[in-house]
Amino acid sequence: MHGKLHIFDDIETLNEATAQHWQEQANAAVAARGAFHVALAGGSTPRRLYVRLAQDDYRQRLPWAETHIYFGDERCVSPDHTDSNYRMAHEALLSQVRAPPAQIHPMYDPVLSPEQNATHYAGLIAGIPAFDLILLGMGDDGHTASLFPDTTILDESHRPVAAQYVEKLAAWRISLTLPTINAARQVSVLVAGAGKAEIIAAVAGVDTPDYPIQRVHPQPGRLDWFLDHAAAQRLPEALRQ
Ligand code: 6PG
Repeated sequence: MHGKLHIFDDIETLNEATAQHWQEQANAAVAARGAFHVALAGGSTPRRLYVRLAQDDYRQRLPWAETHIYFGDERCVSPDHTDSNYRMAHEALLSQVRAPPAQIHPMYDPVLSPEQNATHYAGLIAGIPAFDLILLGMGDDGHTASLFPDTTILDESHRPVAAQYVEKLAAWRISLTLPTINAARQVSVLVAGAGKAEIIAAVAGVDTPDYPIQRVHPQPGRLDWFLDHAAAQRLPEALRQ
């Protein structure tokens, strides 16, 4: 398992740690480069972080005016659809904070095809050197962002963003590709709940890259796993210390 493992007693302490980590990365990026470029994840665990960041202390304290919000992946549905990652992030966080609307970059525009959206987003992120922080979740099949097992997007080596039809979902997704994720200054994987214990143990125990999440391999020191105790419960004892 690449990266540093952080295990917390419960979802609340995990939330506090990930909010604190966001603050550190944001402040460091703004101090060094005048801007913080962050890519958000979909899913239930990241959503809890967004709700936390929208509470008074972080809402007031974080450098929202210098924060540029992107998405790690998106479902090809309109921005007001219940499945939309943009909608989720907007409701939980973006509608509550002072990030300038021009600095919020949804990944999917329904008037464009999935491929056109991917090309458009690739052009957009070409303007930034690397993401300061990419948040990721992980599904129980080991997918992360919209990098699903047995899909060709996993082999993408040039395009920074790609569209992928995912057979098992019978749906198109748009996602940052592995070269983009692995070039980030920091990557945080957020995983919580007993339902993820089995896949976390499998991901930690297998050396060959069978699961998409195992291909997330930024430079040393740049990958953090934030797990709650329930998700970590089947990890070997040596890894849990
Ligand atoms: C998405 C995601 C996806 C998600 C995982 C984990 O849009 O589906 O970005 O990669 O993060 O499926 O989701 P949960 O935290 O809800 O299990």
